[in-house]
Amino acid sequence: MSGLVIERVCGDDTSQTWLLTTPSTGYVIRLRDREPDGTTLRHVYWGPRLTAAQAAALPDRPRDWDQLLGEELPATGGERFGPPGLLVEFGDGTRAVEWRYRDHQVDDGQLRITLADRHYPLELTLCYRVYPDTDVIERWTELRHTGTDQPIMVERCDSAHWTIPVRPDYRMSCVTGEWSAEFQLSRTPLPYGETTLTTRRGLSRHQVNPWLMVDAGDATESTGEVWSTVLAWSGGWRITAHRTLGEQVSIGGGAGHDGVRWRLRPGERWRSPVFAGLYSRDGFGGTSRAWHAYARAHVLPQPAEIRPVLYNSWEGTWFDVNETNQRELAAIAAELGVELFVVDDGWFGGRTSDRAGLGDWWPNPQRFPSGLRPLIDEVHRLGMRFGLWVEPEMVNPDSELYRQHPDWVLHQPNRRRTELRNQLVLNFARPEVAEWAHGWLDRLLREHEIDFLKWDMNRAFTEPGWPGADDPGRLWFDHTAAVYAIIDRLRADHPRLRIETCAGGGGRIDLGILARTDQAWTSDNTDPVDRIAIQHGCSQVYPAVAMGAWASESPNPLTRRTAPVRFRFHVAMAGALGISGNLREWSTEDRREAAELVAAYKRVRHVIQQGQLYRLTPARVEGLTAVEYLSQDGGEVVVLGWRPLARHGQPDPPLRLAGLDPDARYQLAGTSQVHYGAALLHHGLTLDLPAGDHASTLLHLRRLEPSPAAR
Ligand code: DGJ
Repeated sequence: MSGLVIERVCGDDTSQTWLLTTPSTGYVIRLRDREPDGTTLRHVYWGPRLTAAQAAALPDRPRDWDQLLGEELPATGGERFGPPGLLVEFGDGTRAVEWRYRDHQVDDGQLRITLADRHYPLELTLCYRVYPDTDVIERWTELRHTGTDQPIMVERCDSAHWTIPVRPDYRMSCVTGEWSAEFQLSRTPLPYGETTLTTRRGLSRHQVNPWLMVDAGDATESTGEVWSTVLAWSGGWRITAHRTLGEQVSIGGGAGHDGVRWRLRPGERWRSPVFAGLYSRDGFGGTSRAWHAYARAHVLPQPAEIRPVLYNSWEGTWFDVNETNQRELAAIAAELGVELFVVDDGWFGGRTSDRAGLGDWWPNPQRFPSGLRPLIDEVHRLGMRFGLWVEPEMVNPDSELYRQHPDWVLHQPNRRRTELRNQLVLNFARPEVAEWAHGWLDRLLREHEIDFLKWDMNRAFTEPGWPGADDPGRLWFDHTAAVYAIIDRLRADHPRLRIETCAGGGGRIDLGILARTDQAWTSDNTDPVDRIAIQHGCSQVYPAVAMGAWASESPNPLTRRTAPVRFRFHVAMAGALGISGNLREWSTEDRREAAELVAAYKRVRHVIQQGQLYRLTPARVEGLTAVEYLSQDGGEVVVLGWRPLARHGQPDPPLRLAGLDPDARYQLAGTSQVHYGAALLHHGLTLDLPAGDHASTLLHLRRLEPSPAAR
């Protein structure tokens, strides 16, 4: 088996084949120069590892009877009728593209293959990156205008098209949702024709998250082949799965949605976001674990850092924050073991409700008469870090900022400015707006000892215009790029700063934003029963270390459902634990129990946040749902079990654990109970949940020496 990760396994004047090798998979593509197609770069293989000789000997994929399929990035022109990955219009109105091979480079785990149009000044580089520690393959594209004359109109430039091997059937998995109901897992047959997941809202958004998985309909949580694709982009996007009657399936994806047009300027090079792909033979569970490991190794800025237990004021004081009530809450939070105290919305300008103040980023003098410093000092004195909520991309019309700069928002001539949550979107594609936002954020951080920002974004784009701009379509991309650039700059200049991404809950969680934030606010729905399904869906791709989860009030402010403290905490422990709610009104008993639960979480969080996740059951409302985390060294196991609703006469079955060493023994922490690994794997562990609804448990097992019987 070759040790090279990328190699050209055969090549002559008319054909070149490359093999990309990851720890357990192989990916093969072939470039052909053959009339009448000109140069095509086509997919050949994606599956378990191959040797170079095996890869070189693979046959081309067959042509469909009247169309060319399986290209790595199909443009328009010739007999191409599927969803285009590249759709451009040259100055004279020509839209067909004809390629010739220009060159390729292999360097540092990257393969770059450049094609040039035979006539027009356009180059396309298809980029691939593999790493030695993951089966995830990163792909993106670069477009270059090599001329000096007119711009080229771009209607679509995908990051990649992934071709799925032919199987007898196909099923697709994705998550759909809504505000406070994000990440609902959907697993349905893949329809014939084109199936598009997209958002036209300007950010990745609640309704569908930018990933898509395909299997042959036979994968389970622990077995079977799964091909998954994930887009690292936080703006609008489109992913299209295309299935033909001949069972050819491809998944194309990239930034932007249909209808967005922009100009590639002479001399300009444009780079797409990454649309990464993964082949796994270990079912949906193995797929998730591989994405989690990839996110920790290659995406998150501080993956190894243990996430602090945070308190957030939102469900405690809502918009009514002031120095006095935050001091009171901080004192109780510290007693509970909280390590990071976050003041949410309502601390600035005239922001006493959602109707005013966004844009006026100075402490409200009535609420914080001496500014934020006294509160920050107090929080630090209590031994906690201090965090603050911001929503930099937004403005209320009732604000000083808007009165001064009404032209800074997205708007179109002769059209109303649609308000959502009484706010408008600032156009961050305008350099002076992005500069203003960076300026006040940087000042805020320089003048205060702020350790953490919760960066919120509470509405979608409407009237996405920029009157007077020569290329307003660019704002769809440039807005997101500006958000990224501001965060990157703030992080570079304030190294201790940690950031939470939030967009009305989980409206902007994707690998693009997670490359520059530390955790995500998963959902405004903090009801632990609903939350089980939300977290189940979120965990399909995103790791627990980045999944913020609060134990909050009962009855829950959104659903009015009641749940005991223990159940609320046990559900929230499946991610980066936080607390919200009006702690001043929690009973002494509830506070005592909460403190114990926080302490229990701290004993196991390194396993939850850094370990491997095994979803032991589907997410259920009736009966038991359980997840297991196995530490990277295999020495510790944490099990969380929740049963929202019990059914009489249907006891919880023993829970078969996963990933353990059958020959080892495992001791249940805090007890003298010892279990054989083989028994835990094959027979199962009885969780002994109390009878009734809202029952839950947290178990921690430690591996002992291999059992004498097994030796
Ligand atoms: C939406 C967020 O998801 C909430 O947690 C809270 O920060 C509010 N915005 C504040 O307006």
